[in-house]
Amino acid sequence: MFIVLDKRGAEVQRSVENGRTMKMDKNFERIAAQEDVTRSRPLCVRFHGSDIAVFQASDKFYAVENLCPHQHISSLHKGIVDGNILTCPMHGWSFDLQSGCALNGNGRLQTFLVEIRENDLWMEWPEPRNKFSHF
Ligand code: FES
Repeated sequence: MFIVLDKRGAEVQRSVENGRTMKMDKNFERIAAQEDVTRSRPLCVRFHGSDIAVFQASDKFYAVENLCPHQHISSLHKGIVDGNILTCPMHGWSFDLQSGCALNGNGRLQTFLVEIRENDLWMEWPEPRNKFSHF
């Protein structure tokens, strides 16, 4: 793996992840200022027609599709985060923010890679972009 860090140590480029080559800049877009998301104040952003919940937890930033697989309610940004575990505020299903896997309940959250660049949060948007046409 080849990683490029900026002078603050934030990752700005990665050549390989999970055995594949990543085109770091092609699909990354700015979603918020870093200061807009804190441990006590997650953010919900509308991004290419999808609601994305952005969290700061365990010294990292996480972005997940803001749609709980239980009843398909867009309320995860109001959930409780403990470590990197997110608990839905509606009925208590919980998810690993890193993998999106459900820890209790079923289903999986769509997760997105988030990077810090020049005090902004950038999110990788997977191709094809029409994957989330259900919104
Ligand atoms: S809608 Fe999230 S647990 Fe029910």
